[in-house]
Amino acid sequence: MKIGVLGAGQLGRMLAIAAYPLGHQMAFTANSEDEPSVLLGKAFISDGTQDSTEQLTSASEVITFESENTDVEIVKKISKKTPVYPGAKSLFTTQHRGREKAIFDNLGIPCAPYQMVNSLADLQTAVDAIGLPAILKTATEGYDGKGQFVIRSDDQLEKAWLSMHGVEAILEGFVNFKRELSLIAVRGIDNSHKYYPLVENTHHNGILRLTTAPAENISVKVQEQAEHYMQTLLDEMEHVGVLTIELFETSDGLVVNEMAPRVHNSGHWSIEGARTSQFENHVRAITGSPLGETACLQQYCAMINIIGEHGPVDKVLELGNAHLHLYGKSERKGRKLGHITITANTLSELNKALNALDAFMP
Ligand SMILES: Nc1ncnc2c1ncn2[C@@H]1O[C@H](COP(=O)(O)OP(=O)(O)OP(=O)(O)O)[C@@H](O)[C@H]1O
Ligand SMILES: [Mg+2]
Repeated sequence: MKIGVLGAGQLGRMLAIAAYPLGHQMAFTANSEDEPSVLLGKAFISDGTQDSTEQLTSASEVITFESENTDVEIVKKISKKTPVYPGAKSLFTTQHRGREKAIFDNLGIPCAPYQMVNSLADLQTAVDAIGLPAILKTATEGYDGKGQFVIRSDDQLEKAWLSMHGVEAILEGFVNFKRELSLIAVRGIDNSHKYYPLVENTHHNGILRLTTAPAENISVKVQEQAEHYMQTLLDEMEHVGVLTIELFETSDGLVVNEMAPRVHNSGHWSIEGARTSQFENHVRAITGSPLGETACLQQYCAMINIIGEHGPVDKVLELGNAHLHLYGKSERKGRKLGHITITANTLSELNKALNALDAFMP
C-alpha cells in the first residue's frame, strides 16, 4: 500500500524501514530536506506555496502520524478522503493530559490524583486538595520532561505557575514509584490485539536513556493487569496501530502515568529483540494485515539512547551482540540522535555489553 506519514522524524524513518520488506511505499510531510525520514520515501516539504498535507493525502492510501501533537482538525479533514490510523479519537484524547486522565478515571485505571489549573488561584486550590510534593505540567505539548515543575513547598507556587507561561496546566500528585515501566501494544482494524512484555525505563534529566526488555521480576499477574488496562484503552478509543502506556510500579501496584498513540522510544528494542518490531506491527495494523508475534527473541535485551552527541559509535559495531541505529540528525544538546540495541542470552552477557558501552550513559 501507499502509506503516508504526517511528520518525518526518526519514528517515520523506522516505520519506513519496517514497511519496505512488506512491499509498501512511503511518503512523508516534512519541514525541511534534513529530516530523518526524507530519504526513505516521497517527501512533501512545507515551503509555504503548496499544502503538503493535501499532497500527502493525494499520494497515500492510508495515513498515520508520528506525534500526538498532530492537529486533530487536519486528521478529521483527511479522514473524509483517506483513512487515518490511529483515528481522531485516540489523537484528541492523548494530546491533552486532562483528557487522558479523565479516560483513565472513567475506565477505572489507577493514575495520580490531578486537577486542571488555569490560574495561580487554581493552583492554590489544587495544592490544597492534592498536597505536596506535586508536579505541575502543561496540559499539552510536553515531551522529554519539558513543561514541568516539581513543587515541593508552598513558596514555589507562584514560580511554578509563571513557568507555565499562561497555558492550561495540570497538577498531579507525586507518585512514589519503585521503577518506571511501559507497555506497548497493537490493535488491528479487525480488533485483534498483541502485547509486548512490560519493559523497564530509566530516565535522566527527563529523557529516556535506557530500556531493559523484558523488565525483570514481573509476575504474570502484573503483566496481565497492565494488558487489561491497555485493552480497555485500545477498545474505548477504537485505536488502530500501536499504543504505548507509561506506568509507575508502586508498592500498591501499577499506576498509569501517560500514554502515546504511536510507536514509542521504549519499544525500539523490539527491532532486534522481538519476533515482530513495534514498527512492523504498526504498519501491519494500519494496512489491515495480520499482526505479528511480540515475544522476545532472546532472554535479555536493552536499548541505550544516543543523546546530544554521537560518541564512540565504533565501539557498538565492535560488539558481537549490539546493533547501531543512527537517525541522520546533527548533534545538539538533549537531542535523540540514535539508539543501540543489545541482545543477550545471559544477564552477565548483557551487563558486559552495557559496561563496554558506558560512554553512552549519562
Ligand atoms: N505524577 C508523577 N509522580 C512522580 N514522577 C512523575 C510524575 N509525572 C511524571 N513524573 C516523572 O517525570 C517524567 C516525565 O513525565 P511525563 O512522562 O509525564 O512527561 P513527558 O514530558 O511526556 O515525558 P516523555 O516524553 O519522556 O514521556 C516521568 O517519566 C517520571 O519520571
Ligand atoms: Mg512520559
